[in-house]
Amino acid sequence: MSDAAERVKPLAMAGQTLSPELHVRFAYDGSGAVMARTAGVQLAAVGLSKRYRKGQVEIPVLRGVDLQVRRGEFLSIIGQSGSGKSTLLHLLGTLDAPDDGEVHFQGRRIDNLPTRARDQFRNQQLGMIFQFYHLLPELTALENVLAPLLIAEGAIGYLRRRKQHLARATALLELVGLSHRLKHKPRELSGGEMQRTAIARALVANPAVLLADEPTGNLDGATGEEILRILRTLNEEQQLTIVMVTHDRAIAAGADRTVRLAHGQVELV
Ligand SMILES: Nc1ncnc2c1ncn2[C@@H]1O[C@H](COP(=O)(O)OP(=O)(O)O)[C@@H](O)[C@H]1O
Ligand SMILES: [Mg+2]
Repeated sequence: MSDAAERVKPLAMAGQTLSPELHVRFAYDGSGAVMARTAGVQLAAVGLSKRYRKGQVEIPVLRGVDLQVRRGEFLSIIGQSGSGKSTLLHLLGTLDAPDDGEVHFQGRRIDNLPTRARDQFRNQQLGMIFQFYHLLPELTALENVLAPLLIAEGAIGYLRRRKQHLARATALLELVGLSHRLKHKPRELSGGEMQRTAIARALVANPAVLLADEPTGNLDGATGEEILRILRTLNEEQQLTIVMVTHDRAIAAGADRTVRLAHGQVELV
């Protein structure tokens, strides 16, 4: 890939504007087949490494992870507890920075963006859900879904478009089957309902990619299946790109494609 990267340079230096799509095509233009396959890459890890330091000891968690997620794909990542799944998802979501390697979104490098640009990118393009929902306990389901918009736009901007926002948040809660729980606080919701609220919140800013870290990890089998069904529907009907981390093979099987994280690297399953 390094000589492919060299081929990109002269074009960029000549002052031609390369669209992100085109950039990917040139960067990976090794053969026709590769080119066709990578043209639709939305999110990519390139040689990602991450180590944690514990006292004097360095623990390598990721050792050169290469991964491509295509636009509209539903990818699951399985691996044992401690294999680095959350670490990888956090790097893909720019919540943490790699020691080596790069993260690309639609052909543009995102892991080294300045903090503000990175936060803005994350708020606009990524939605995230987690095993323990991370809802704000004092807010209702509806307010939890609205919260990212309030944070992104500030009070004045938010109030200006309040009606529109309310309509969108309500529609999203309806989409996940929670229109009868708008005013409930998290403690008044079941686990499945909390996760559905978290899904609606993740979608409120209309992200391109949803990153899900063990979204069914705290739910019983049937409720986990329901959450999976919602994710599948979002993927199929709205072409939402989804990367889902799970240790549950049955849940992973609901995705289009599964890869396994083991020994710090991604293996095909
Ligand atoms: N902030 C941290 N400091 C030190 N070690 C960490 C930290 N975060 C994760 N680890 C270690 O990295 C490994 C991978 O963690 P994680 O990505 O959470 O795995 P998974 O999500 O697959 O269970 C584990 O051994 C964990 O203990
Ligand atoms: Mg984890």
